[in-house]
Amino acid sequence: MRKMRTQRAIAILASVLLIGGVAACGNSDTGGGGSKDDGKITMGFSQVGAESGWRTANTTSIKESAAAAGVELKFDDAQQKQENQIKAIRNYIQQKVDVIAFSPVVESGWDTVLKEAKDAGIPVILTDRSVDSADKSLYKTFLGSDFVKEGKLAGEWLVEQKKGATGPVNIVELQGNTGAAPANDRKKGFGEAIAANPNLKIIASQPGDFTRAGGKQVMEQFLKANPKIDVLFAHNDDMGLGALEAITAAGKVPGKDITIITVDAVKDGMQALADGKFNFIAECSPLLGPQLMDLAKKVHAGETVPARIETEETTFTQAQAKEALPTRKY
Ligand code: AHR
Repeated sequence: MRKMRTQRAIAILASVLLIGGVAACGNSDTGGGGSKDDGKITMGFSQVGAESGWRTANTTSIKESAAAAGVELKFDDAQQKQENQIKAIRNYIQQKVDVIAFSPVVESGWDTVLKEAKDAGIPVILTDRSVDSADKSLYKTFLGSDFVKEGKLAGEWLVEQKKGATGPVNIVELQGNTGAAPANDRKKGFGEAIAANPNLKIIASQPGDFTRAGGKQVMEQFLKANPKIDVLFAHNDDMGLGALEAITAAGKVPGKDITIITVDAVKDGMQALADGKFNFIAECSPLLGPQLMDLAKKVHAGETVPARIETEETTFTQAQAKEALPTRKY
């Protein structure tokens, strides 16, 4: 009888020790910002929204790449609002994800939440768009395009096209959402490229929020207010596509009466270019998913990664768009 009681006591003690050991492991797994130590990385991703064809392709790239890389993805669509992104990032911090990645809707106002992530020991990766934080230690790396260069390429193409022009060339500009890095930078790059040519004049410039509806609405206003518009520079394809409707409705021929330059090179934009309705596109690639997952694994493993990783991009004329369209992925 006594032997049986001793055996039962040993069994109870063993299971208490076993449970205690598992619990201890669990605690240490969630420490330092990590979730669970099953070898799988959990990424919290805050997306800007679904404003454009580019954004849809970017979201698809991130979701597919996470699945392919075995990264557990928590995804939030901020619907163009910075407060939603801040809320999502705070949720990810609370959930102790391994890595946070996000595409900031605007450049400013991130220091506090980025500091919270840093204090919690969770590495942050900026993707697509950057922030203007002076403290670069708040994030591990920024993966995305050089937006200034995109604007510059657009402007340089125009300068070349209009080099024989003797009279004024009136340009209207459809900007992305106010405060966004691609809106600020594309404006800057384009402005710098045309600056030395007094003939080339931006006569109106307003935000169309990177959407087709915004592009159409603002272009209608431009057309009403300005009898002579020679060129439209739209900060993305979607706004250019919206503007096409306004231009056609105003009885003008897009691509002929008004030269149209855009950025992105998504399928619909490339189709408009191949059809002669757009004249030039500076590419901005949304296919950031594979590189992002690779970076997430590296920063999670404590490896040092480059502070800036620039996306490789090109430009398209109408002839080049015709050639590229059949194999275009997005
Ligand atoms: O940040 C990338 C930009 O955002 C793309 O050019 C635009 O289409 C998107 O909405």
